[in-house]
Amino acid sequence: MEIIDKINKLKKEKNAVVLVHNYQLPEIHDIADFVGDSLGLSIEAANTTADVIVFCGVHFMAETAKILSPQKKVLLPDKNAGCPMADMIDAESLKALKAKHPRAVSLCYVNTSAAVKAECDYCCTSANALKMVQHILAGHEEIIFVPDRYLASFVSAQVQRNFILWNGHCPIHAAILPEHIAGAKKQHPHAKVLIHPECKPDITALADIVTSTEGMCRYVKDSTEKEFIIGTELGIIARMQKENPGKLFYPASGKAICPDMKRTTLAKVLRSLTDMTYEITVPQNIVNKARLAIERMTQVT
Ligand code: 13P
Ligand code: SF4
Repeated sequence: MEIIDKINKLKKEKNAVVLVHNYQLPEIHDIADFVGDSLGLSIEAANTTADVIVFCGVHFMAETAKILSPQKKVLLPDKNAGCPMADMIDAESLKALKAKHPRAVSLCYVNTSAAVKAECDYCCTSANALKMVQHILAGHEEIIFVPDRYLASFVSAQVQRNFILWNGHCPIHAAILPEHIAGAKKQHPHAKVLIHPECKPDITALADIVTSTEGMCRYVKDSTEKEFIIGTELGIIARMQKENPGKLFYPASGKAICPDMKRTTLAKVLRSLTDMTYEITVPQNIVNKARLAIERMTQVT
């Protein structure tokens, strides 16, 4: 309790807001001013009147908050909380890909560095990737979609168009296998299957619904069903259980745990607010360019 009181006191003193991703530990959800998916958190970061944003998530998310609120102090409680997928592409590689396909419009998943976003025409999240692609296809033929090849293939199947892909993926979601879903379905035959679009196509094919983390939270809340198999990072289940005490949630795979998302602890949040660490900085020229890609996304969705 003492640590939570200290955090709340510092939040007030420093006019700080704590933004928390759905995959964070339950005790971090409990101190949040806002919990959500990448899209919701970006919107919240853009709109907050706080002076300080403590971002309980991973590095690319805190960078996105900084790009949208460059005048604010954005803090990441653990400086090593990264995203292996975001690290699978850098700005130089994207430049080279664009040079090979000069007529293509480039669309990057939000799980990318600020430098990669700065090289892209549009940004998207798992919640709005389909909408962004439809918007781009209304005026253009070719799309470079980086870095998540599985999210890209999921959207590609919906619009029946091929994209120029990058060989990136989320190792956590890619580890969910068809036999995991088959096993869970056998044990819980009445459960609805919810899958994140970062999963491989043979997994999304087995889903009743494919959606972002926030889409999943909304779906289980609104549904009259009682049981759900959850095909994404396991942290989200604690939130679902808390918000829906009468319903049952089963992990598609007990191994779907993102170690980077679990780096944030209450002690690190307290340290973050006490010492103002670790401050996220993005060079102004990158902010200006990356912001365009993100704003084009928020204008469409
Ligand atoms: P969401 O935008 O659905 O929250 O996903 C973020 C993420 O990193 C998924 O692995
Ligand atoms: Fe990155 Fe996957 Fe972790 Fe999401 S779950 S932060 S995509 S490694």
